[in-house]
Amino acid sequence: MTGLRQTQHLAREARHLAPGASEEAVHGRRVFAEGHGPVLTDLDGNQYLDFAAGTLTQSLGHGHPEVVEALTAQARRLWNVHDSATPDRAGLLDLLARLLPERLDTYAFFSTGAEVVEAALRVVQATAPPGRNRIGALRHGFHGKTMGARMLVHWDIGHQAFSGNSVLGYSPYCYRCPLGLEYPSCDVRCATLVRRHIAEKPNVSALVFEPVLGAAGVVVPPPGYWERIADACREGGVLLVADEVLTGGGRTGAFLASDLFGVEPDLAMLSKGTASGFPFAVLAGRAELLRRPEAAISGAYASTYASNPLGIAAARATLEVVERDRLIDRVRVLGEIMEDRLRVLESRFDRLGQVRGLGLLWGLEFVTDPAARTPAPETARAVYTTALDLGLRTSLGGHILRLAPPFTLDEALLEEGLRLLEKALERVIA
Ligand SMILES: Cc1ncc(COP(=O)(O)O)c(C=O)c1O
Repeated sequence: MTGLRQTQHLAREARHLAPGASEEAVHGRRVFAEGHGPVLTDLDGNQYLDFAAGTLTQSLGHGHPEVVEALTAQARRLWNVHDSATPDRAGLLDLLARLLPERLDTYAFFSTGAEVVEAALRVVQATAPPGRNRIGALRHGFHGKTMGARMLVHWDIGHQAFSGNSVLGYSPYCYRCPLGLEYPSCDVRCATLVRRHIAEKPNVSALVFEPVLGAAGVVVPPPGYWERIADACREGGVLLVADEVLTGGGRTGAFLASDLFGVEPDLAMLSKGTASGFPFAVLAGRAELLRRPEAAISGAYASTYASNPLGIAAARATLEVVERDRLIDRVRVLGEIMEDRLRVLESRFDRLGQVRGLGLLWGLEFVTDPAARTPAPETARAVYTTALDLGLRTSLGGHILRLAPPFTLDEALLEEGLRLLEKALERVIA
C-alpha cells in the first residue's frame, strides 16, 4: 500500500505532471526517496529490495561509494566542455578496450540509449554501399523512441510505429512462435527466414538486433538461431549492429551478450548498466567503420552531452568496479541460483506460463491459462503491486515481469527477494 506521505505527494505532482508514465510508476505509486546498494526506501520509510536495479541501470546497486566519489570529485572540477578531451576520457577508452572484444576497438560517447542507436544508424547509412538503403531489425525488438529507433520498432510503444525503410525478421520467440512451430523440430525456421529476408538481400545494409530481446520479455534465442543468421549476414555484406543498451556491461553473464551466442558485431551500443544510472552511452565499433571518412565527418559523434565529464567519471568508476571485483563471474553464480528457484516457481504456478533468462536478467510471462497462453496483464500487474507491498520491486511491462537485480547482491538477499516473489505469487495466483 502506498503510504500517506506518498499519497499526498503524488496528488500534488498530479496537478502539473503530464500523464504517460511507465506502467511501473502508474501502478507502483511509490515515491522513492533513497537508494543504497540493493535497497530502496520510500517517503514513508518502507524498504524494498530493488530487483529492477533502477531501470536495469544499477549494476552496482544504488549509490555505490566509488561511483559517488568519482561523480562528486568530478562535479567539483568540471561539468561540460562539449566533447573536448578531459583527463578521465583516455582512461575510459583504455578500460573499454580491455573489456570489449578486440575487434571493437574504437568508441564514441553519447548520453542515452536512443541517442546511441541513432548514432549507429548514422554510421550505417553513411558507410552503406550504393543500393543498400534498407535496415533490418527483429520483430519484438526495442531500440528507443526517437524517430530512427522507432523505424526499427514495430510494436506498440505508446505511439504508432514509424516503419520508414526498415525490414523486419522473425525473433526467436519460441513460446509464441509466429510460425506455429516447436523447437527443435522447427529446425529454427525463423532464422532461415531472417537469413532469406535480411542477410541475403542486396538492398539491406545492416541488421540491428538485441542478442537477447529485453523489453519484449527477455526472449533468449535457442541454439542455432544466431549461428544461422550471423554467418549469412557476414557473407551477404550486412553489418551486424548489436543493441546491447540493456544487455551490455555484464548483465547476461558476459560483458556483451553477443559473445554468448558467438555473434561478432561490427557495431555495439551500451548504456544502461554502463554508468550506474547516470545518462551515458557508448558506441563501440570496428575501426574501419567508425574511422571511415564518410562516417567520421566533423561533428559526427558530438552532441551537447556526448563525452560529458560527469558521464565519463560515472562510467569509468562503474566499469572499474565490474572489472576489479570480477562481478561478471558473480552474475553467473547468482544467475544459476536464480534459475533454479524460478524453475520451481514456473512448475508450481500454472499461470506463470514461462520463465526465461540468463545471468541476472529474467522474464516471467503470465497467462490466463497454460494451454491457450492468453496474455494476462492484470495478473502480472497484481503480482507486481503485491510484491511491492511485500518489499520487492520488479519491472513491469504488459503481461511480463522482469527481474534484474544488481550484480553486487549477496546470496542471502537474492534468496530473500525470491521468497518475496513466491509469496506474491501465492497471494495472487495460488
Ligand atoms: C535494447 C534497448 N535499446 C535502446 C533503448 C532506449 O534507451 P533510452 O531509454 O535510454 O533511450 C532501450 C531502453 O530500454 C533498450 O532496452
